[in-house]
Amino acid sequence: MMRALVADLERRRAAHLYRARRTLDTPQGPEPVVDGRPMLAFCSNDYLGLAADPRVVEALRRGAREYGAGSGAAHLVSGHMAPHQALEQELAAFVGRPRALLFSTDYMANLGVMTALLGRGDTVWEDRLNHASLIDGGLLSRARFHRYPHADLAALARRLGRPTGGRRLIATDGVFSMDGDLAPLTGLVRVAADAGAWLMVDDAHGLGVLGAGGRGTLEQLGLGIDQVPILMGTLGKALGTFGAFVAGTEGLIETLIQQARSYIYTTAPPPALATASRESLRIVQAEPWRRARLLERIAEFRQGAAALGLPLMASATPIQPLLAGSAARALAWSRHLEGQGILVTAIRSPTVPEDRARLRVTLSAAHSAAQVEHLLEALATLPRGGDDDAA
Ligand SMILES: Cc1ncc(COP(=O)(O)O)c(C=O)c1O
Repeated sequence: MMRALVADLERRRAAHLYRARRTLDTPQGPEPVVDGRPMLAFCSNDYLGLAADPRVVEALRRGAREYGAGSGAAHLVSGHMAPHQALEQELAAFVGRPRALLFSTDYMANLGVMTALLGRGDTVWEDRLNHASLIDGGLLSRARFHRYPHADLAALARRLGRPTGGRRLIATDGVFSMDGDLAPLTGLVRVAADAGAWLMVDDAHGLGVLGAGGRGTLEQLGLGIDQVPILMGTLGKALGTFGAFVAGTEGLIETLIQQARSYIYTTAPPPALATASRESLRIVQAEPWRRARLLERIAEFRQGAAALGLPLMASATPIQPLLAGSAARALAWSRHLEGQGILVTAIRSPTVPEDRARLRVTLSAAHSAAQVEHLLEALATLPRGGDDDAA
């Protein structure tokens, strides 16, 4: 058996699909020390530069002093603590919904929501580029599972036109995690209403970043709970901490508390994490300059990359992928940048389709204009020939 695993791993390596971890010796930020080497990094989801913010770190310390290191039990046993409760209330107020429910991760939240709301006899439709956690939640729910072509409202409406019986749910990323584009939410709202389907939006990459108040893709597009009844967010990206939440009506949240297995059958997150996230949420609201600075960095990058003729994708968010095509070329590009002290990860199959491997450049309010300029200078020297040249 073990020999078969090693053979599989070797095949993966030969196909340029082998993944290896790097170790950061410093906190997250634009200039981490990676495996002992100082680098300039453009690959975290710490969009607002809060992961190592001293105030958030101090809140984590304070939370641990007041509530200890671990929660000691699941939320429904005795692990639900005052910081969890306060954070849920503050998150609900932030996104303008009656209730919010904390999960350990957004991955677990998506599994929990979809398995609690759907079962045999129900049907779920998902964008082909949805994050793995939405796909896995849909599959695990045992509902009939359909994927529609990326952002293709007409195709989705056609499929929804067929009668199904049971509950119907459309699930989509708000900001697509590997492409950076926004879901066509206004159209999805209309399609969902016409078809009598619920709409679930996972705004992992929009929360904190989009909208004047950082409330995410829904704020940017002027949509509320009546249009999108199920809203997911993670605390591990723009908020810089860890954890996730679902926000919606009293009925939705109480249903999840009763039925979401990834909420019920797991230890509640450390209370200090909730204290840290509360501080982070306060900063997201009190310091809109972070979003303004991030927009400046995005504009600088796009302008520079376009001038260099780089294969930019259509994204207005901090996710700015450069399409390489083959895994070999994406890896060669990533290694080329690494040679110049710049870290940008190559994203390959199965995370993205086989022929759409890419460098996933992500920008942060913590980056300076000079750092973006430095990245552009390095990108100007990328080998741009065919795959053979690149590999
Ligand atoms: C759309 C989307 N949902 C969920 C997740 C997972 O979030 P978490 O890291 O909180 O599990 C991610 C990214 O990792 C994501 O991009």
